[in-house]
Amino acid sequence: MATEPQLLDIQTIITIVGSTIWLLLPAYTPNNFAVIFGGGMPVDFGKNFIDGKRLLGNGKTIRGFIAGVVGGTIVAHLQLIIEKVSNIGLYSSIEYGSFLLLILGLTLGAMLGDMGGSFIKRRFNVDRGGKFPLLDQLGFLLVGFALASFSSGFEILFTLPVIITGFIITPILHVLINIIAYKLGLKNVPW
Ligand code: CTP
Ligand code: MG
Repeated sequence: MATEPQLLDIQTIITIVGSTIWLLLPAYTPNNFAVIFGGGMPVDFGKNFIDGKRLLGNGKTIRGFIAGVVGGTIVAHLQLIIEKVSNIGLYSSIEYGSFLLLILGLTLGAMLGDMGGSFIKRRFNVDRGGKFPLLDQLGFLLVGFALASFSSGFEILFTLPVIITGFIITPILHVLINIIAYKLGLKNVPW
């Protein structure tokens, strides 16, 4: 019995989802570094916008921003090392210069997108730490992709299937990870 060649067999899906998560780690990890190392002077210096509400709020600090970009860049370099010893050819397949530009775009974009999200949340009266579905999960990714696209390595690694997969799996991963963190007692609420 001949089997029909399928456009999307399970192996292809696993490969695309796996590559997408791997490629997006430099965009996923900055906020975690900001949570750990953040604090001190807020990015908006405590200033209000014309609506009388905070520009960004106390949840966006200068230290957190720098820690996020530096942390995400370190993660990407660790990935480069792991790729070289394990024969994975994603980040290690592009020139180091475009790799650096790509990583700067993803990490800086993630932190700027996160800040943009806070700006929008404050305008909608959502307080620091309040939820804003989709904006919280996709804002950082959108700006990360936008800035990373300035690197010549972007179109090589971030193909259309990878970008689409990124937008689909990121909110799902967000929900799953928060539920796990809640079950482990690391968070007080499961979102
Ligand atoms: N953080 C930081 N600096 C940043 C981003 C995050 O110091 N640029 C720290 C803050 O302590 C923040 C925490 O990481 O409270 C969680 O980040 P996030 O969820 O992005 O901020 P929220 O507190 O939810 O604030 P907002 O509602 O403005 O998103
Ligand atoms: Mg938050």
